[in-house]
Amino acid sequence: MKKIVINGGKRISGTIPISGAKNSVVALIPATILANDVVTLEGVPDISDVASLVEIMEIMGAKIERNFEEGRLVIDTRSVVSRPLPYGKINSLRASYYFNGALLGRFGQATVGLPGGCDLGPRPTDLHDKAFKALGAKKIQEEEAEHLEVIGDSLVGTTIYMDVVSVGATINTMLAASRAKGLTIIENAAREPEIIDVATLLNNMGAQVRGAGTDIIRITGVDEMHGAQHTVIPDRIEAGTYLALAAAMGDGVIIENVIYEHLESFIAKLEEMGVGLTIREDSIEVHKSENLKSVNITSVPYPGFATDLQQPITPLLLKAKGRGSIVDTIYQKRVNHVPELARMGANISVLDDRIIYDAPNELTGSCVQATDLRAGAALVTAGIIASGTTKISNIEFILRGYDHIIEKLTAVGVDIQLIEE
Ligand code: UD1
Repeated sequence: MKKIVINGGKRISGTIPISGAKNSVVALIPATILANDVVTLEGVPDISDVASLVEIMEIMGAKIERNFEEGRLVIDTRSVVSRPLPYGKINSLRASYYFNGALLGRFGQATVGLPGGCDLGPRPTDLHDKAFKALGAKKIQEEEAEHLEVIGDSLVGTTIYMDVVSVGATINTMLAASRAKGLTIIENAAREPEIIDVATLLNNMGAQVRGAGTDIIRITGVDEMHGAQHTVIPDRIEAGTYLALAAAMGDGVIIENVIYEHLESFIAKLEEMGVGLTIREDSIEVHKSENLKSVNITSVPYPGFATDLQQPITPLLLKAKGRGSIVDTIYQKRVNHVPELARMGANISVLDDRIIYDAPNELTGSCVQATDLRAGAALVTAGIIASGTTKISNIEFILRGYDHIIEKLTAVGVDIQLIEE
């Protein structure tokens, strides 16, 4: 079993480079199926979710050249066939549901095992179903999979109102609608930067997607799509994780390869806490911070505070002075990091889906468990802040989403190791 061991309490300095966005690349890879050609993706992070998607794509017949050192994937989807996708691999991640939209768009049918992913409480897919049905597909629920099939000759464009703002359902609809007949309008679409990134790739592949980044997206279906080259946007969640770490333990840390605009709401919170920052064109310098103030956090859809950053910022909040709360309106049960932080000495608890902390707290190294990806990231930061040794188990979750985390943190002076026990 792999574990991460951190000898904490040491200040850090230097530069942390940010990799391509996990939440984007996990949709970009399935999207290449629509090209029926060769697509080159640059800036691909070396994370296990990418490795799983590559494996699934190869099972379907894609030919993939990977160069993780250079962050490049060259994906040839000409020989892809829509065969039932194995439950095991599919279940290792959430984003496998993007195969539904991509295969339905290209082949008019898809049989995909039910998606897995982190346990954040209920994660329904009713809006995906609603969109596919509206486009003219019927769904047959199998025991461990979902079969989708176009009822007529092809998918037909229509207007789809998303009852809840959903990144997954917006992207899946864009994928399928790119090859539908006529115009599809997505109302109340998610506006996350990852949506724009996927739309950019689709357009470079010949699709006609307009309005991505606003809450109304119009997609005019096309008969054919083609190969393209695309660079994945920087990972705003990885950047936010390291910005919070730098604010907690940095003596001057530069976070490099970031798009500031993607992090505005997060940075506003850091500034509210009293963190000093210098924003440059593609980097952010975090100054040594003292006398941090406690803040309240509420996660909401983009451009508000991201649910994915609620857990990674929590250890920083524990260094501030005063009481505060965190409310995650996207995933109310995303609180699994709380008991682990309490085990490290934090004065933090959950009351009616609201996380309450009373800081500052002196954290002490302990044996803790990463229960999900971002909870794992929070524990890494907590381990770096804490005095003594922290041993984190279940780190497979962390490796799903943080590219070269050990190397990046070692380079700024963290005493961190990956061990096999
Ligand atoms: C969410 C975040 C996204 C983040 C990702 C990974 C939002 C809007 N989305 O995306 O920024 O990168 O987590 O942690 O902040 N929902 C339904 N029915 C559906 C689909 C979703 O009710 O069919 C609900 C979900 O339960 C959730 C909300 O809609 O409460 C947002 O879901 P969605 O954006 O799809 O979730 P993720 O793709 O996981």
